[in-house]
Amino acid sequence: MDLVDAPWWHARRAALISLLGDRDSAYVYDLATVRAQAGKLAALHSFTRVLYALKANPHGAILEALAGAGLGFECVSRAELERVREALPGIGCERVLFTPNFAPKSEYRWALERGYRVTVDNLQVLRDWAPLFRDREIFLRLDATGGRGHHEKVRTGGRHSKFGVPPEEFAELLPAVDAAGARVVGLHAHGGSGNFDLETWLEPARVLASRIAAFPGARILNLGGGLGVPDRPGSPPVDLAGLDRMLGEFRLEHPALEFWLEPGRYLVAEAGILLARVTQTKGKGDRRYVGVATGMNSLIRPALYGAHHEVRNLTRLDEPASQTCTVVGPICESGDELARDCRLPRCEEGDVLLIADAGAYGHAMASHYNLRPPAAELVMPD
Ligand code: LLP
Repeated sequence: MDLVDAPWWHARRAALISLLGDRDSAYVYDLATVRAQAGKLAALHSFTRVLYALKANPHGAILEALAGAGLGFECVSRAELERVREALPGIGCERVLFTPNFAPKSEYRWALERGYRVTVDNLQVLRDWAPLFRDREIFLRLDATGGRGHHEKVRTGGRHSKFGVPPEEFAELLPAVDAAGARVVGLHAHGGSGNFDLETWLEPARVLASRIAAFPGARILNLGGGLGVPDRPGSPPVDLAGLDRMLGEFRLEHPALEFWLEPGRYLVAEAGILLARVTQTKGKGDRRYVGVATGMNSLIRPALYGAHHEVRNLTRLDEPASQTCTVVGPICESGDELARDCRLPRCEEGDVLLIADAGAYGHAMASHYNLRPPAAELVMPD
C-alpha cells in the first residue's frame, strides 16, 4: 500500500493493541483525521458555513475537535442539542441548527425558547403550532429533489420519503409562515447519504434557488450532507474541488445567496475503527467463519444496509491474506455479520481484528441487543 494513502491506523498497530489493553472490543477515534477532514471542507470557497451532523458520531472529543475547526452543528433531537451544550459550553445558538422530523411539539418549544433556529419540514406543524414560531427565525425543508444514497433506507428525498414539505404544498408555505409571524432565513434540502455524484448538491441548489425569492429576507441555502466516503481502498473520493468549482459558478448567478453544507459521515467515518478480538473460528460448508467479541450490537451497518467495511487482522497486519472469511459477531441472528468474503491471514483466538471506516454511524447506532454492551469508545492519544 502506498504510505501516502495509507489510513492513519496502518502505522499505529502497536499503539492500538496496547490501547485496547485487556478489552475484547473498542472503537478508537483519531482526532487528527477528524481535523484533517474538517480542514478539507473549511477550504471550500463556495460554502459559508459547514455544520457537523452529529447523528453520525456525537462523542464529546469529536465535537470539541470540530468546534475548534470552526464548524457549526446540526442536531435532530433535544438530546443532541443538550450534548452540544454539555460538550461545548458557551457555544452560540447561531452555530447550531435543529432539524427535527416528526418530533413532538415539546422538542420544538424547548429549542425555540433557547434561541435555536429550527428547520421545519411539515406545513401542518407551522399551522397547528403557529404560536411557537412567532418572531422566530426558521428554515424550511423542501422535498426538492429525488432521493440519492448508498441504500434505499438512507434516501431522504422523493415522494416516498417522510422528509420535507412536498412540492404541491410549496405555495401554501408563505401564507402559513406569515400567519405564524415567523421569519424564513433559509431553505433546506437533503437527498440522502453516501453520495459521490455532484448533482446531489447542485440539484437542490438549483431548486432551492428558484424558490427562495418567495420568502423575503431568506438568503441561505442549506444543501444538506451526504458526502460519501469510499469503502474500498483505491476508490475515488468525492470530487470536492469539482463541487467547489461548480457551486462557485452557480453562486455567480446568485450573488446574494449563502450556501451551507451539513455532512456527518465525511468528517468522522475514516477517523474511527472498531477493534474486536477473535473468539472462535469455524469451517462450515463452503464458509470459513471468524468470530469476534462484538457484532451488530456495535456496528449494524453491514447487517442493515449490506455496507462494506474493510477488515484487517491487526495482530498479523504483515502476514499475507490466505483465506476468504465471513466475520461474525456473538449475536443470535444470522444477520450478525461484520464482513463477508473478506481476505484475511490465519486468525487465532485473541487476535485483534480491525474494522475500518467505522467512525460514522457506528457507536451512534449501537444497541444492547442480547444484553451485550456495545464496544467502548476510546480516543487515540496524539
Ligand atoms: N442532514 C440531514 C438532514 C440528514 O438527515 C443527514 C443524515 C445528514 C445531514 C448527514 O448525512 P451524512 O453526511 O452523514 O451522509 N445510518 C446511515 C446514514 C443515515 C443518514 C441519515 N441522515 C449509514 O450508516 O449509512
